[in-house]
Amino acid sequence: MPVELVDSGLDLETEADRVSRQVDDFFARLLVSPPDSRERLFEAMRHAAIGGGKRLRPLLTIAAARLFAIDEERALRVAAAIEAIHVYSLIHDDLPSMDDDDLRRGKPTVHKAFGEATAVLAGDSLHALAFEILAHEATDSDPVVRCDLVLELSQASGPNGMAGGQMMDLLAERQALDLPAVTRLQQLKTGALIEYAVEAACIMVRLAREERTPYRGFARNVGLAFQITDDLIDHSGNEAAAGKRTGKDASAGKATFVSLLGPDRARQQARLLVEQAIDHLGSHGDEADLLRAIARFAIERDR
Ligand code: IPE
Ligand code: IPE
Ligand code: MG
Ligand code: MG
Ligand code: MG
Repeated sequence: MPVELVDSGLDLETEADRVSRQVDDFFARLLVSPPDSRERLFEAMRHAAIGGGKRLRPLLTIAAARLFAIDEERALRVAAAIEAIHVYSLIHDDLPSMDDDDLRRGKPTVHKAFGEATAVLAGDSLHALAFEILAHEATDSDPVVRCDLVLELSQASGPNGMAGGQMMDLLAERQALDLPAVTRLQQLKTGALIEYAVEAACIMVRLAREERTPYRGFARNVGLAFQITDDLIDHSGNEAAAGKRTGKDASAGKATFVSLLGPDRARQQARLLVEQAIDHLGSHGDEADLLRAIARFAIERDR
């Protein structure tokens, strides 16, 4: 099916602010506390999901959706579903049994603010909510598209995606991994969800599999560059700017691009990956500028 392409028009900062506000509003509407003992659970979910984060994944979905002229309201639902999975993954990542962190997005982590049991349930609930949002008719009138959106998000977040990568990441504290192994780990841990953020727009516009190659290549490179930058921020970033503790990977003895290559070569590698990501969009003109700007932002950031 031919895909209509439209001009991206806006600059990254304006667009990032707008998408952040829309995602906040979406969660605020969805996460209204009921008048019973679940109030604490909803409060914990709002604490994690509203007011913070770069919203990189929603931004990618909205930018890719705009490239394909997909209705923005429906794209926002998909963007929010991906962010819900991401936020759940952060809540669980911060738990004492995982990274044991007390600061996230400049605020106390959910288990610090609400206790561990509530944090587990807030994560569980955001996970379930993501699929509820996708499966709802308002996301797409075509049940085949909805089913595909659900299928691919479950793959991106389960044992062959984020959760599997998190398992490898925990074990990377006790194993000497080489570069291909770290690349694989990071592709699952962080890459899979970032890849899905772009893939979702391809699904919504019913793009043929063989036509998805450049967008997949783009997202794959951005995902890897993004995680290398996360590792660089952990290595030499500023805690106040990052809104989370830094220096944790080295003290845990974790294998990352930075531990294997050193910060300079890791930064060089991230830059190369972003150039490659942008090359994948070579067949597009200005209409893909927002995606190109997001790719650059993935590495030019301090938080
Ligand atoms: C942090 O993700 C954890 C990783 C997967 C690298 P982000 O850097 O996207 O965190 P927020 O959403 O901006 O807080
Ligand atoms: C977390 O990776 C990735 C996921 C939540 C899937 P990190 O443990 O490196 O993330 P930060 O540094 O705590 O944000
Ligand atoms: Mg972790
Ligand atoms: Mg962590
Ligand atoms: Mg990190």
